[in-house]
Amino acid sequence: MNKIDIGTPFNTQAIINFEGIRNTKISDLPQFLKVEITQGFKISFKMDRKDIVYGLGENVRGINKRGGIYESFCSDDFTHTPDKKSLYAAHNFLVVDGDTNFGLFIDHPGLVTFDIGYTHKDELVISGDNPNFSLYFIPGDSSLSITKKFRTAIGLSFIPPKWAFGYQQSRWSYPDAESIENIGKEFRNNEIPCDTIYLDIDYMEDFKNFTVDNSKFPNFKEFVAKMKGMGIRLIPIIDAGCKIEKGYPIYEEGIEKGYYCVDKEGKPFVGAVWPGKVHFPDFLNENVGRWFGQKYDFLINQGIEGFWNDMNEPAIFYSEAGLKKAMDKVTSMAGQNLDIYSFFDLKSTMESISNNIDDYKSFYHNVNGKLINHYDLHNLYGYFMTKSAGESFINNHPDKRILLFSRASYVGMHRYGGIWTGDNKSWWEHLLLNIQMMPSVNMEGFLYSGADVGGFGSNSDSELVTRWTQFGIFTPLFRNHAALGTRKQEPFSFDIGTTNIIKNTIQLRYALIPYIYSEYMKAALNNDMYFKPLGFVYTSEQSKRIEDQLLVGDSIMVAPVYTPNSFGRNVWVPEDMLLWKVKTYKNRNFEVVKEGFKYIDLELDETPIFIRKNKMLVVGNHGNFVSEIDNSVITLIAYTDDEASYELYDDDGVTHKFRNGEFSKSVLKITANGDNNYSLSVKGEVIGVKTINYIVVNSLGAVYEGNYSIE
Ligand code: GLC
Repeated sequence: MNKIDIGTPFNTQAIINFEGIRNTKISDLPQFLKVEITQGFKISFKMDRKDIVYGLGENVRGINKRGGIYESFCSDDFTHTPDKKSLYAAHNFLVVDGDTNFGLFIDHPGLVTFDIGYTHKDELVISGDNPNFSLYFIPGDSSLSITKKFRTAIGLSFIPPKWAFGYQQSRWSYPDAESIENIGKEFRNNEIPCDTIYLDIDYMEDFKNFTVDNSKFPNFKEFVAKMKGMGIRLIPIIDAGCKIEKGYPIYEEGIEKGYYCVDKEGKPFVGAVWPGKVHFPDFLNENVGRWFGQKYDFLINQGIEGFWNDMNEPAIFYSEAGLKKAMDKVTSMAGQNLDIYSFFDLKSTMESISNNIDDYKSFYHNVNGKLINHYDLHNLYGYFMTKSAGESFINNHPDKRILLFSRASYVGMHRYGGIWTGDNKSWWEHLLLNIQMMPSVNMEGFLYSGADVGGFGSNSDSELVTRWTQFGIFTPLFRNHAALGTRKQEPFSFDIGTTNIIKNTIQLRYALIPYIYSEYMKAALNNDMYFKPLGFVYTSEQSKRIEDQLLVGDSIMVAPVYTPNSFGRNVWVPEDMLLWKVKTYKNRNFEVVKEGFKYIDLELDETPIFIRKNKMLVVGNHGNFVSEIDNSVITLIAYTDDEASYELYDDDGVTHKFRNGEFSKSVLKITANGDNNYSLSVKGEVIGVKTINYIVVNSLGAVYEGNYSIE
């Protein structure tokens, strides 16, 4: 990997492992890359007709980014339509896959534009107006090997506790303790597994961070314990902006110590978010990071074990200056007979007060005593907020994994937390977008990720929630969340038939946790991806063009239904595979599907799982919550004629001891011995397992079943 420093780059701490990285000059780059440095920068590459461009993490459009224009500029935008250029994240790593293979990472915390064949069909142009950044050029012979090199350089992805692989339920907002308890009871009464319920902004007193509204939660600590007794952890939200209010300790302390971002006069910058006027902690200043990170202990000390950081692009509803300017203009237009242009101008004047670039340019960070304009560091804000929490967790609670994820992110933040993909909508198109985004965010290091299942904005319906849940069971972060004012979309909010299908689907997720957790942990520890596009493994032209199927871990492929009124879908089967159409994880109906395009019938209650040749899937059992699952008996499902093997990873799921090698990796191998007869060998400890049942299906569809006891 080559590193080229241009100008004086800001140290984003995205790359932390410099082994194998050579410091070089622009002139050392291969001829096919053109780099021009003027007032800004421009990097260009002439794409071949069939080149694919992977990467850019959380963004709109498909897995292959070609044909679009994208901007890295963390944006609070709740309408994720294909014409948008940025969402909440800035993920600047991409891979060109074709006759020439290489990766590029633009390590720059300000605005970067990626024009990938949008202006000129065959031209990839990366540009920015600030010529101070580090450019990483990553050669390699495949997209996967290039991605792994990049991932090695950016360090180990965030590892959540194992319970965070359970189902999670959220809504903006469950109003109080009683309603949360009732939601918890509905899960238990319906036998739908659930591990967490989220506390959205209304749990706070007037939206003030690190407060709890006593009128809604008369004894918060006791309530947290009570819910935990049901196997449900509560996950509160933390917002970036801190309310300006005399007597509120966070406000007072921050002011006294000079911990907030300042305007050009050196006064704390004022923006408005949920609480009304707020100041923004200057997370880029190490002391502020330490200070804010400590504050999470207010909730941790009351039994909380996970958080979601929000509004940290940062979202600014309006600034005082921006609002005044807009109001003056609107007032001046009052009473006029507006022509069409002035009318549209009037409308956009009010819209543009939120997340306005002029506001981002009007405040400053104090980085080691030097004031730096926010605009130039914009993409680091959510990252450093999450880093401050993550570092505090490690320092103050070194023996415990704490769940943490964020809305805004930049590469580097993946070491401290995961991400959810923000305010999507209850649209079928956003189910597809969820599918397409997952491998891309994995490339950037964000393994613990997922979208709001069922969709956040707009009203969902039973079919959409059902189909979305059938994909959601494969995402490490598996959370159903919905916006204020929208229709309820908890699994039991529709008819009983829907409740049953979703129950079976969530139970399947729990049964797959041995596999999902094992694949997640191996992906993290090996700098690999948990979700891969088919083209990362299969080299056929058809495989490379598939935009709606994914490999999940090493053993399976998924092909979710993402269109309404469907009773099946077309699937590209890249090699012969074993299809398991799951109604419940206990059913055993397998079908061998041959390589090629196939129409697969899928009733509303069927989740398709394709098991790859000579690989196997590990299926355990469900419980009401993760730590309740009894996996003393597990089942392997293998598709092979001769030999299938699997490396099963497990650890305690709660501590960081795996970092010191305290985990188990057992090798499970199924071997054919003669006519339709198979044996299983197990090397290494399989934590907590006493019996392994195994089912082997061969290419003729013959089924063999056996079992293995562990002494
Ligand atoms: C933002 C978040 C959303 C949350 C809402 C209220 O829109 O993205 O998840 O529910 O704020 O806190």
